[in-house]
Amino acid sequence: MSQKFAGVKGMNDLLPGEIERWQEVETAAREVMGRYGFAEVRTPILEDTGLFVRSVGETTDIVGKEMYTFEDKGGRSVTLRPEGTAPAARAYIEHAVFVKEPVTRWFYIGPMFRYERMKTGRYRQFWQIGVEAYGVKEPAQDAEIIEMAMHFFSSIGLSKVKLHLNSLGDEGCRPAYVEKLVAHLAAHRAELCPDCQARLERNPLRILDCKNESCRAVTAASPSVLESLCEPCRAHFDEVQRLLTLFGVPYALDSRMVRGLDYYTRTAFEFIAESPVLGTATAVGGGGRYDKLVKSLGGPDVPAVGFALGLERLVLLLAETGQKPLARPELFIAFTDKASQDAALKLAQALRHQGLWVELDERGGSLKSQMKRADKSGAKWAVVLGERELLANEAELKPMAGGDVRKVRLDELASALRSA
Ligand code: HAM
Repeated sequence: MSQKFAGVKGMNDLLPGEIERWQEVETAAREVMGRYGFAEVRTPILEDTGLFVRSVGETTDIVGKEMYTFEDKGGRSVTLRPEGTAPAARAYIEHAVFVKEPVTRWFYIGPMFRYERMKTGRYRQFWQIGVEAYGVKEPAQDAEIIEMAMHFFSSIGLSKVKLHLNSLGDEGCRPAYVEKLVAHLAAHRAELCPDCQARLERNPLRILDCKNESCRAVTAASPSVLESLCEPCRAHFDEVQRLLTLFGVPYALDSRMVRGLDYYTRTAFEFIAESPVLGTATAVGGGGRYDKLVKSLGGPDVPAVGFALGLERLVLLLAETGQKPLARPELFIAFTDKASQDAALKLAQALRHQGLWVELDERGGSLKSQMKRADKSGAKWAVVLGERELLANEAELKPMAGGDVRKVRLDELASALRSA
């Protein structure tokens, strides 16, 4: 008896044809982040549940509603990581990295898991490219990583991503702000949606980014966090803005942006894109400073700042620009008969050993069908091998995108393709 299975809802397969764009984004990320001094880390996908409860925060949607949590066979509660900042901090502390170096810059690329309501660009397994910089409390680090993200967007051809910036204050000034906010919101309790009424006790800051019309009307008139910053937080935020201007990075202040995770202090930011598929104002990334997290997880008092980008969303935006993925075969070799099939296989072998991406249709078939296949492969060039070409050691190199054919010697094909 056979049974057919479907993948788990909200978790996607990535197949050739689509994965090329992912690889392109990942390669560009590694390249750009490397230039800014970030080194790759890979942490496990499963962590102790307590790690996320303590860091992301008990009252957040992520911890309250969205985690994949279960008991393993040893009876421990483990969770599929919903984000990468807490696992990275856990590893940073566990390996006492701070003892070895005063400043640590890490990046990671990997899947995260949140049991969310799905729509385009929102999945239950999704990939993040994240960066975390430990050990620098200065605003220059905030500005540098933001500039790095903006540079990364433009390096992959996304020029329309907007930076939204806020400061959430710190333990010195935030409690007083939250008190003022709650006083304002409580006076309008009845106008808030049921979710926000519950948030009023549990997580009042989150009410600021509720999308509900009536909540927005209430919060529009609420006190702004930026007007409540203490002097050190204000100075830090001014300097972040000054440096972004120095780097030529435009930004929009957004005092309602509070982020969905509890560990932030001071700078918070989001990278927002508008697109027909993703809908208006979708975050392709977000991050901020979290100066107290490492200590609260049992580490030393080390400041940190970081961000994460959603890979699916980047890929969706890229597909919309109509840019073709860059990776495609250099050459497709077609052949006319059995003898030239051997020659084609040998030629493909030699060219591949010389570092070129070469395709051919091992099944043979008519020239017409092989050329169709060449077209589908996306190859830049095609060549047909037959008795005549083998005798003359010369063939015609045909540009697949159209244009004039060129005569090339078969033993000079590699250099001809390289200089073409
Ligand atoms: P986050 O804002 O929760 O931050 O997620 C970062 C990005 O991941 C989002 O802007 C979005 O592009 C993507 N993302 C989140 N949830 C989903 C989903 N269900 N489906 C598809 N994409 C999604 C964090 O996770 C923080 N750890 C960022 C950070 C790093 N802060 C400091 N360091």
